[in-house]
Amino acid sequence: MAGKKLSISDLCGMAVEGKKITWITAYDFPVANFAQEAGIDMILVGDSLGMVVYGYSGTVSVTMNECIIHCKAVRRGAPDVFVVGDMPFGSYHTSEQEAVSNAIRFVKEANVDAIKLEGGEKVASKIRAITDAGILVIGHVGLTPQSSASLGGFKAQGRTAESAEAVIKDSIAVEKAGARMLLVEAIPPELASAIKKILSIPVLGIGAGQDIDGQVMICGDILGYFQAFTPKFVKKYASVGKIIVDAIKEYIADVRDLRFPGLEHTYSIIPEEKEKFEKIVKKYMK
Ligand code: KIV
Repeated sequence: MAGKKLSISDLCGMAVEGKKITWITAYDFPVANFAQEAGIDMILVGDSLGMVVYGYSGTVSVTMNECIIHCKAVRRGAPDVFVVGDMPFGSYHTSEQEAVSNAIRFVKEANVDAIKLEGGEKVASKIRAITDAGILVIGHVGLTPQSSASLGGFKAQGRTAESAEAVIKDSIAVEKAGARMLLVEAIPPELASAIKKILSIPVLGIGAGQDIDGQVMICGDILGYFQAFTPKFVKKYASVGKIIVDAIKEYIADVRDLRFPGLEHTYSIIPEEKEKFEKIVKKYMK
């Protein structure tokens, strides 16, 4: 599908036709550009940028300004891809008004196609308010990293019947509030599949099995350059971190052993200027 930016109707149509939706995070111009070139359907400028780009231990300290800066870079890198801005912790929690103002910043300043926010029943009024402002919302339930402290860490959710029912109730609340898609994170595949059957909006997953409408993965995980930890649900498609380390090692060795820079990496003095130049140098060498 490279070359044509998909709309929300195209994405919903893919789900209806059973065509899997592909989604990846990106935080900067080059990765966004590579993802567009590869033909990805959607890009998420996730608040995971806190860990992948800034080296924080979690996502809670990520700010609105950081998210906006990265969304702008991604938008420039992938003008033809459906881009989703991730609302950071604290940007939609205190009031509907705050949620709408911050969602509007994503659209006005970074030109994203939709925003994503975490939570179910507890944030339904914020989803409704943002939707009423005309902005597409994608919900996110199951493991919600912004509330990992109250979930007891980065732990899979919905593994008991009671916890599974809570995830189902949250999913229904998100759809009822007007969200146009749902992301389910780190839940058993049977639960994800049940949610897909219960809802009529597309359900995408990360660590939620195959029987849903599509997948999202964190670029640093699948490309192999985020090394702090790797969740069980990640498949690595490349070891870009190793490629970078090896290349920098080679550069260091080349500089030390005078293999770089070579003549081909330098600029020559214009031949007619050479004599004058040598005189000038002599003058200063005295
Ligand atoms: O911030 C993020 O990258 C996410 C992932 C779960 C996809 O929300």
